[in-house]
Amino acid sequence: MTAIDLAHLRLLTMVPAVLLGVAAVVVVAWLTAHMLRYLLADAEIRPAIRVGWRIRWTWRRTAVRVGLVQTERVRPPWWSSRPQTAVVRRDLVPAVRVRARRWGVEVDASTVGRLGLVEFQNAAGHLTDAWRVPQVRVARVRPGLVRLRALLVDPLTQPAVWDGQAATVDPLEAWSAGVDADGQPVTIRCSGVSGAVVAGLAGFGKTSLLNARFCQLAPSTAVQFVLIDGKGGPDYDGLFRRAWLSAKDDPEQVRDHLVRVHELMTGRQRCIRAVLGVKNVWHLGPSASWPLVVVVVDEAHTFFNESKGTDVESKKRDAVARQTARLVEELVRKGRNVGVQVILATQKATGDAIPTKIRDNCQVAVSFAQRTSEAATAVLGSDITGFPDEHPRRLQDPAYIGVASMVVEGRPGFTLVRTPYVSDAAADRIAADTAGLVRDPLRLLADAARAERSDGQDREGGGSFRQEHPAALPASSPPTGGEELRR
Ligand SMILES: Nc1ncnc2c1ncn2[C@@H]1O[C@H](COP(=O)(O)OP(=O)(O)OP(=O)(O)O)[C@@H](O)[C@H]1O
Ligand SMILES: [Mg+2]
Repeated sequence: MTAIDLAHLRLLTMVPAVLLGVAAVVVVAWLTAHMLRYLLADAEIRPAIRVGWRIRWTWRRTAVRVGLVQTERVRPPWWSSRPQTAVVRRDLVPAVRVRARRWGVEVDASTVGRLGLVEFQNAAGHLTDAWRVPQVRVARVRPGLVRLRALLVDPLTQPAVWDGQAATVDPLEAWSAGVDADGQPVTIRCSGVSGAVVAGLAGFGKTSLLNARFCQLAPSTAVQFVLIDGKGGPDYDGLFRRAWLSAKDDPEQVRDHLVRVHELMTGRQRCIRAVLGVKNVWHLGPSASWPLVVVVVDEAHTFFNESKGTDVESKKRDAVARQTARLVEELVRKGRNVGVQVILATQKATGDAIPTKIRDNCQVAVSFAQRTSEAATAVLGSDITGFPDEHPRRLQDPAYIGVASMVVEGRPGFTLVRTPYVSDAAADRIAADTAGLVRDPLRLLADAARAERSDGQDREGGGSFRQEHPAALPASSPPTGGEELRR
């Protein structure tokens, strides 16, 4: 054997040792990186990192045990020693990507064959036990990808208090509702919306959510409020200062207020093109001279309830309830393009509490805890039955006071949102600070129409606006459409 051959032989015998050495270096580097990441992480996130490691390392075994495995019968691979005519079993386990989060572990799993959202939802209980975590939530991120959230701390159960900071979104365009289960901000679209229903069991946060909306909008000169509190208690006393019209549980006064809002709506409809030059106020956005009119009716069922009694008093009350229902229905159905928005809050949104003609025309629906499936379906629609994790029945625990289920634009299915608590004191302070912004939208409309009319006269050397837009009368004129409705 020559010296060259000997050198070759020595090199060949060294190859396994070198490969082993490289592998050892890679493993050590990988372990060091993980340990460093762990040591540098906040103490808060370390438990999630540890659970994440366990989930990752045991995933294949766990998936098989909880039934998240798809079995296929295939030919053996080409490198196999088995004959190519044989049929072998192959177990496919969804590929996962595991990440530690402040609240727990996020596991993104790819769907495989017949293993999709439903199968993961069915396995969630078993995964909770296998991973030894308090809760596993399942949601579809996009077709082909399911997100499992192993919650160590549920962000939805961590109460948040409204900090009074200006929202990052335009409050006229979107309603900052709170944060989702991942702590991400959630907004509800408001531009072009004429109706919203907020439902939920007593004491679960409806009025606080309305307070939050009030606080977001009150500093804007482009918003006027009509505040109606069917409870008749002191909840809205402080807020009334910032309202164009306000009422408690006096059905006739409420009806009369709604007649005025209806009058405003019809007046605006008749002269929107002449005054704004567009058919839809949302093309320009509400302004101080054409403000968004937000009509809040808390405990709305109070005003739609008919006693069906036969005595004179009951008949009179029922007639008022029917008028109120018809006015609200029209505002919700027709108020969108002229900047009228109705927000109804009620404990139950079933047809006996809120007429379905009103409820089903509201573009936004929010539900806090509900006792029955029927009540949840009434507000959120029948689709909610396919989302057990986001179902309002699950929110009956006191830890979920202030948590609501809703449809959020751009997200699939339903989203649970932790709404911030707005204390009465904070809302009262904002109402007091902004009380000077109250204007009468009927008067603003009359002024705008008058200005437009004199512009027209200047242009044409003679005015014809009043004939073209007979509704554009000063606010002091006798109500026309309203009188009809009152009858
Ligand atoms: N977002 C929230 N976070 C934490 N606690 C809240 C939240 N909202 C409300 N709460 C608590 O729940 C209590 C009741 O809230 P709220 O008055 O808003 O309920 P509600 O649904 O309007 O009840 P009701 O139907 O009786 O009017 C509040 O006084 C407050 O203690
Ligand atoms: Mg309330």
